[in-house]
Amino acid sequence: MPAFTASAPGKIILFGEHAVVYGQPAIAAPVSQVRARAYVFARVTETRGAWEAPYTDRADLSPVLVEAPDIGLCSSLAGLHPDHPLARAILLVFEALQVVRPPACTVCVSSTIPLAAGMGSGAAVSVAVIRALSAFLGHPLPLEQVSKMAFEVEKIHHGTPSGIDNSVVAFAKPVYYQRGQPLATLKLPVSFQIVIGDTGCSTPTGEVVGDVRRRWQVDPSNYEALFAAIGEIARQARPLIESGSPHKLGPLLDHNHALLTQLGVSSPQLETLVDAARRSGALGAKLSGGGRGGAMLALVQEQDSRRVATALQEAGASRVIETTVGKKARGRS
Ligand code: PMV
Repeated sequence: MPAFTASAPGKIILFGEHAVVYGQPAIAAPVSQVRARAYVFARVTETRGAWEAPYTDRADLSPVLVEAPDIGLCSSLAGLHPDHPLARAILLVFEALQVVRPPACTVCVSSTIPLAAGMGSGAAVSVAVIRALSAFLGHPLPLEQVSKMAFEVEKIHHGTPSGIDNSVVAFAKPVYYQRGQPLATLKLPVSFQIVIGDTGCSTPTGEVVGDVRRRWQVDPSNYEALFAAIGEIARQARPLIESGSPHKLGPLLDHNHALLTQLGVSSPQLETLVDAARRSGALGAKLSGGGRGGAMLALVQEQDSRRVATALQEAGASRVIETTVGKKARGRS
């Protein structure tokens, strides 16, 4: 069996995070400079290393080795809890392809996507693993199915994910996403430049989503009004993006950020980076993803990209990524 590799991009949410969990639309785009990669290859011998888990009642999984050097993981599949995100992704593929006795193989995973930064690292790893493993087994799965399976894995990370992360990462295109509606991939007649700043600190998305849920339960009318206002921004942003007027998105980004701050998901570090971006000439800026840390983004004119990136670095960003949303996938990281 030949070796198979697959990769998947990181992502950034342009509009609508949190409200999307409550049925509002949101817009997200892939960030191709950062990627997760999976590499699956057959092992010729069945020699078992000392580091492997002993045979158990799940012994039929032991021929599958899982390696993720970035996080120091090296284990047989049998040695991983079935709720481990990598194990779940692999087991979902076996289930979908009705593989009862997996072949001796190694699934190796690496990623350059910042962890816990709201940049889709978990979804990208799942998508890369599902694509590489299903291709290795001779049945590459269609993107819709890859996305659905990655969604199942996202539940381990987030509890109640909206489904936007797995969608944008699996299709690797800008998307307009609303729960229960067919996914719309967006065509951009004019690309636009954004600068992403990572605060370097993070709160697990599931924790922030859970906190917003508790606040909503205590004060539903106020929170539903905030979700509706955020959804309205995503609805207004879509025609601007699709009609080639992305330079008009700045005020919508600023307004979306203000509403997210009212939801209680910003943080002092995010405010510092958002302020720094605006002061250095960004057209608009907002936090992105779960919040309380993680990443923010700024919309910039191409000639201002470097200056805003430098301002974010000086304001304490642990990592800055300049990227183009739309046609030209290029940028610096
Ligand atoms: O994975 P993150 O941190 O980008 O968060 C995803 C966005 C949320 O709307 C906060 C959660 C969700 O599932 O949509």
